[in-house]
Amino acid sequence: MLGWVKAGLVLSLVMVKVAGAMETNSCTQLMGNLALSRDPQALNEWARIQKEKAAHFLWRNLNPPGTTPGTVVASLSRANPDYWYHWVRDAAISNEPVLTFYLSSQNPAHKADSYRRLMDLAWLSMFQQSSNAIGGLGEPKFHVDGTPYRGPWGRPQNDSQALRATLFTRFAQGLLNEGKDAAVREMLYNSSTTSLIKRDLEDTARVWKEKCFDLWEEINGQHFFTLMVQRKALKDGASLARRLGDHGAADYYEQQVREMEGWIKDHWNPEKGYIDATRWRVDGIDHKHSGLDSAVILAAIKAGDGDHFFGVTDERVLATAHRLRQSFQQIYAINNRGQFGTLIGRYPEDRYDGYGTSGNPPGNPWPLLTVTFAELHYKLANEIRNREEFTITGVSLPFFQTIFPGDSRIHAGKVIRRGDELHAYVQARLRHEGDSYFLRAKYHANGDFSQHEQINRETGFMQGAETLTWNYSAELTALFERER
Ligand code: NOJ
Ligand code: NOJ
Repeated sequence: MLGWVKAGLVLSLVMVKVAGAMETNSCTQLMGNLALSRDPQALNEWARIQKEKAAHFLWRNLNPPGTTPGTVVASLSRANPDYWYHWVRDAAISNEPVLTFYLSSQNPAHKADSYRRLMDLAWLSMFQQSSNAIGGLGEPKFHVDGTPYRGPWGRPQNDSQALRATLFTRFAQGLLNEGKDAAVREMLYNSSTTSLIKRDLEDTARVWKEKCFDLWEEINGQHFFTLMVQRKALKDGASLARRLGDHGAADYYEQQVREMEGWIKDHWNPEKGYIDATRWRVDGIDHKHSGLDSAVILAAIKAGDGDHFFGVTDERVLATAHRLRQSFQQIYAINNRGQFGTLIGRYPEDRYDGYGTSGNPPGNPWPLLTVTFAELHYKLANEIRNREEFTITGVSLPFFQTIFPGDSRIHAGKVIRRGDELHAYVQARLRHEGDSYFLRAKYHANGDFSQHEQINRETGFMQGAETLTWNYSAELTALFERER
């Protein structure tokens, strides 16, 4: 891995040189030119470099000096804001690309390094599971020595244990495919309810009907994102349980999945024309009136895939994406000052400016959510490619009209069939659209390509937690999708 990180460093030096050599033609301008030129080769080369950079920054935040093995700090920032903690959600999401590297790498040293990282996280997670945290297995936040944070906080956040279970279930399936059954039974899953994955699955099956805090740690209620990732955890968990002969558990998890689906569907609000992020709020901030939230798109990408339950081709998801884009295009002044892409934030009423909630201006666009929108477009292009046909509906039409303005071939009821001229054209346009979000997010990055949590909505400068770990895993998963 060291060699790899070094390769990243060398690459960054090369990039700085390139940027230096182009004094009049700054790096950010380069991105603008790329976005507008749409030269596929230049874009692919650019994407390759982004991947190296993102891996470099991600790895730097895994178990940095002074932390217990397995720890993923949310950011290197220790004050204003203090993100020097291990969030279960951030850790699970950030280890997704580590797992992808493990499963796909041909290089034995990289593979061994990723394996060790994942096993370290498994050990740490077991320690955390038995730590008597206030939020139980839904405890969101731990100190970097593995002990639970005991200060006041929005807890529990029950997406945490579900995301952890999903990560390790995918890891276990990969290990079983490699014949490493013993490691799986010893470290990840066996029929004992104290094994790592099963403990989280049992808890998820028990708590999903309970209200909890959302992924933004602000509202206590019932959340689309949380239910979606809980459903995926139980669904994938059931397959793993079955593969390992634990049929009773598999039946039980599948039963919960069926029950949850009705609850999830009720988040679609036909009057509003989008998916409501939260229902039945009981506590927490009260200024989130619209219910419009990028968490819905994150949910579609992370948990709607595979079996097409609220995935990226779902008309309701696309209608929600369209409304989000429209809203952020209006409220962020910075979005009216760029020629390409749209910067995306959490939700329109957001007041968290990266340091606190009294800031002026309030909530800002986030790189990781802008990149999530890139991934949405890449994924949609890939889904359309893999299908015999895809239908544009009245509900999804506005989403497509934004991408194909004035194109009379795009209308409600339009069926795009494999082999049609439109089939390839739509995919290519969607990829360009995805690139424009990605390039736009990076346009505002620091000179070394690192990124803070937020982008100031007026000036475009970085703000909030610097070098946020989640940024880099969001970039890597989007780039993996772009390559598919
Ligand atoms: C920190 C949380 O992590 C963030 O999501 C929230 O918006 C702010 N606190 C304000 O509550
Ligand atoms: C605030 C975000 O809202 C939350 O989702 C995240 O877990 C923490 N920051 C840590 O990155």
